[in-house]
Amino acid sequence: MQNAEQRTDTVKKMQYLSKPGMSRFAALCLSAFLLTGGCSGTATDVPPPEDAELLPGGATTTSILPFPALDKMADNLPAELKADFYAGRALAEQPWVKAPTITTARDGLGPVYNARACLACHIRGGKGRLPDDSNTPLFNVFLRLSIPADKGQSVDETLGVIPEPTYGDQLQTQSIALAHQLRRDTPDNIAAQGDVAPEAYVYIEWEKSTFTYPDGQQAELRQPSVDIRYPAYGALHPHTLMSLRNAPAIHGMGLLELIPQRDINALADPDDSNHDGISGRINQVWDAVQQKSVPGRFGLKANRPNMDMVVASAFANDIGISNPLFPQQPCTDNQPACARQINGNGEPGFELPAALMQLVTDFSRNLAVPERRDASDPQVHQGRTLFYQSGCQTCHQPSYTTGDSAEFPHLANQKIWPYSDLLLHDMGAGLADKRPDFLASGSEWRTPPLWGAGLLGRVNGSNSYLHDGRARSIEEAILWHGGEATAVRQNFIHLTKTERQALIKFVESL
Ligand code: HEC
Ligand code: HEC
Repeated sequence: MQNAEQRTDTVKKMQYLSKPGMSRFAALCLSAFLLTGGCSGTATDVPPPEDAELLPGGATTTSILPFPALDKMADNLPAELKADFYAGRALAEQPWVKAPTITTARDGLGPVYNARACLACHIRGGKGRLPDDSNTPLFNVFLRLSIPADKGQSVDETLGVIPEPTYGDQLQTQSIALAHQLRRDTPDNIAAQGDVAPEAYVYIEWEKSTFTYPDGQQAELRQPSVDIRYPAYGALHPHTLMSLRNAPAIHGMGLLELIPQRDINALADPDDSNHDGISGRINQVWDAVQQKSVPGRFGLKANRPNMDMVVASAFANDIGISNPLFPQQPCTDNQPACARQINGNGEPGFELPAALMQLVTDFSRNLAVPERRDASDPQVHQGRTLFYQSGCQTCHQPSYTTGDSAEFPHLANQKIWPYSDLLLHDMGAGLADKRPDFLASGSEWRTPPLWGAGLLGRVNGSNSYLHDGRARSIEEAILWHGGEATAVRQNFIHLTKTERQALIKFVESL
C-alpha cells in the first residue's frame, strides 16, 4: 500500500510520463506499475485476435483474386438480386452522354460536369488518381467551393455552406462543348464564343518536404497547392474557400449504412469529457428525403447522411444528371449558355428515373469488402499489437455489428471491421482545408475506414491517401496526422523502424 505522500508523488510521475511522446500504453502500463506494483503486459490493452477479423465485411467478404478490385459483388448477395447488381454496375461504369441521343436511358450528361461515370473517379471501386505534374488538369478529383458567412448571415440548411456566388459549391471542370471534349480551347475562350464552357481547369503543384524521424530515418511528404486556370464565368469571389477532394473507395457502403446510429453516438465525445485529447463529433446534414437535418456519416467530412443522398448528389453535381432528389441542372444563374442546353429529361421531368438511380445506389451498397491478407504473418501480428498500443483504434474503431434490415437482410447483423468511428476529428493545420461543411470545421475530417486500404495501389494504381490524395503511402498518411491525433502520431514516430514497418504492414493487411 502507498501512503498519501507516495501517491501524490506517483501522480506527478504519471503526469510527467504521459506527456506527448510517451505511448499511451506505456503510460498506462507504467502507471499501473507505480500504483499497484505490477503491469499485466499487452494482454489487457490489446484485444486477442478473433477469427472474425479475417472476414472484415462479415458474410459479404469476398476473395480479391484473381484481380484485386473493390467493385466486386457481395459474396452473399441473394441470386435474385444479381441481375440488378450488374445493371447498377453498368449505369455506374459506362460513360453518360450528352442529350439528346437514341439511348435516352443514358443521356443528359452535364451540361457542366466533373466526370462521365461514377467509376471514372472511383476507379474499380478504389480511389481517384491525381496527376503528378502541374500541367494535367484534374478530372476525377474535384474542388468544393464556398464563401465565409458574414456576421449574422445564415447558411443554407440544405447545402451546409454559402456557395461561391458565380460557380456554386462545386467547380465543374468539364462541359459538353466540343471544343473542350477535343481539348481545342480553354474554358474562358469557349465561354467567350458563347458555348457552354467548363467552369475552369484545375491544376496541382506539389510542394515537397522531408520529415526526419527521431531515429534519423527520413520520409518525403508532399502537399498540393491548387491552381485554378481559365475561369470561364469571371473572377471567383476574393474570399473563396476551396476544398480539394479525392474520390474515396466505395466498398462496404451498405454495411456502414447499417451501423446503428446509437453505436456511433456512443463513440462521440464532443467536449472530450474523458480528457484523452480526442473528441469525435457528429455532423448534422441535410436529408432531402426526410426534408430535415440528420446525423451525417458518408463523405470526407461526413457531409451526407445516407447512400440515397450520396448517390443522388453525385449524379447531380459530379455527372450533371438530374434526378428525383436533385431535379435541377448543375448550371448557376450566371451561366446562361449552360441553362440553354437541351436536357435529357424523360417523363418525370428529370434525367434519371428513380428506378435507375435505385439500381446504382443498391450496386454501391452491395460492393463486397475484401478478405484479410497475411493475418497470420508474425510481422502483421506484431503490427496489430502496435496499432492498439499506439492508440490508432481510438478513432479507427475496429468493429461493429450491423443492425436489422428488412430491405437488405444479407447486410444485416454482420460483424464488420471497418476501422472507423465515422466521426469528425480536428486533424490540425497541416490537413485543414479551412472550409466548413455543415457543422464540420475547416480542420475536421471524418475518420476514413481502413478496410481495403492496403489494396488501393493494386486495384487501380492509385495510392492517393487522405482527403486530397496527398499521401502516396500509409506511412505518409500517418505522418500528416495532427490536431487530436498528435499524441498518437508521436507514439508512431517514436517506434523503431522495424516496429513502424510492422504497424504499416498490419494496416496494409486490413
Ligand atoms: C468526379 C469524380 C466523382 C464522380 C463522377 C463520382 N464521385 Fe463519388 N465521390 C467523389 C468524391 C470526391 C467524394 C467525396 C466527396 C465529399 O466528401 O465531399 C465522393 C464520395 C462518394 C461516396 C461516399 C464514400 C464514403 O466513404 O463516405 C460514395 C458512396 C460515392 N461517392 C459513390 C458515387 C457514385 C455511386 C457515383 C455515381 C453516381 C459517384 N460517386 C460519382 C468523386 C466522384
Ligand atoms: C484523432 C483521430 C485519429 C487517430 C488517433 C488516427 N487517425 Fe488515421 N485518420 C483520421 C482522420 C480524420 C483521417 C482523414 C484525414 C484526412 O483525410 O485529411 C485519417 C486518415 C488515415 C489514413 C488514410 C486513409 C485513407 O483512406 O486515406 C490512414 C492510413 C490512417 N489514418 C492510419 C492511422 C494509423 C495507423 C493511426 C495510428 C498510428 C491513426 N490513423 C490514428 C483520424 C485518426
